[in-house]
Amino acid sequence: MKELRGNEKWVEIINEFPQAGEIWEDLGIEPEKLNAEKALVELAMENKIPLQVLLNNLAKKLGLVVKWPEIEGMGANYKDDFGKSSKLRQGKPIGIGKIIAVHSGKGGVGKTTIAVTLAIHLSKLGKKVGLLDLDIDCPNITRVLALESRHIASLNKKIIPLNFEGIKVISMGAIQERSNLAIMWRGPILAKAIEQLFFDADWGDLDVLIVDFPPGTSEAPLTFFNMIKPDGAVIISTPQLTALDDASKSVDMCNSLGVEVLGVVENMCGEVFGIANPLKTEKLTGAKWLGKLDLQKKIAQENFWLKGFPDDLANLLQKLEKLIF
Ligand SMILES: Nc1ncnc2c1ncn2[C@@H]1O[C@H](COP(=O)(O)OP(=O)(O)O)[C@@H](O)[C@H]1O
Ligand SMILES: [Mg+2]
Repeated sequence: MKELRGNEKWVEIINEFPQAGEIWEDLGIEPEKLNAEKALVELAMENKIPLQVLLNNLAKKLGLVVKWPEIEGMGANYKDDFGKSSKLRQGKPIGIGKIIAVHSGKGGVGKTTIAVTLAIHLSKLGKKVGLLDLDIDCPNITRVLALESRHIASLNKKIIPLNFEGIKVISMGAIQERSNLAIMWRGPILAKAIEQLFFDADWGDLDVLIVDFPPGTSEAPLTFFNMIKPDGAVIISTPQLTALDDASKSVDMCNSLGVEVLGVVENMCGEVFGIANPLKTEKLTGAKWLGKLDLQKKIAQENFWLKGFPDDLANLLQKLEKLIF
């Protein structure tokens, strides 16, 4: 049985399966405007339809099998000028209030933990909250929120966020068909994915959008910060020098791109990574110390947020809430 991977040329599909034309119509695509060399994935991107939707619709109609997202070297098949030729959209969409980035140069320091709990905390206060997972390669938010079996849908070319107790959640984790498949995308494709996840999502009215970033100061934050300047960034570190080194880069990146740093959270404090040291943290990162969170078994447990937050986390979230609103 023929497998659809997204890198087939749309014109070849039409030649082989003339009835596929109806899918373009259903999805509002005008094939006459397309170049015959375009692959399905480009067709989806240009028309702002999640590729999964396009492939699934085609597969259903034509009796084919979708291999998603094993689109062989999805990035590798693209010419490097793809990103340049398709300019990314810019500016904050109407309806979205504050945008808060949760960032750190280093991985595994607690960005996702803080992003998720901050979203839950603000939502419990009655705020309209969105949570955008920009860790495209290794998205964790759906797992952390126990949403791993849920899939994002799309309607009228808009991506419909998952609803987690009123929080609108968008993550690649809800787009991948199998969670253990590696996403291996080069810069331009990654940037395009980030653009689509943000601009094509049906966020509605939000008081605040919390954006969880992958580690590093290149592709994801650079793309996002250039499309839209967040209202503030919360930087996460541990007391270890290696984490503080990377947090200082995170602060420098925000300063260079004109994003206000709200401060640094010192996470995983205790015997293992070291005790919290506000003065040292401020000196090494150049940012305000916002508070600390101890390394504790409770936070490492799955779905820990169900049982309420430990006191230090609750205090920290209250402090962040006051800085944001
Ligand atoms: N204060 C803490 N105490 C114990 N475990 C923590 C704490 N903060 C985060 N973790 C755990 O550490 C791991 C890395 O945290 P995560 O939030 O995923 O980091 P990042 O998003 O920066 O990669 C996760 O498994 C998380 O549950
Ligand atoms: Mg993370």
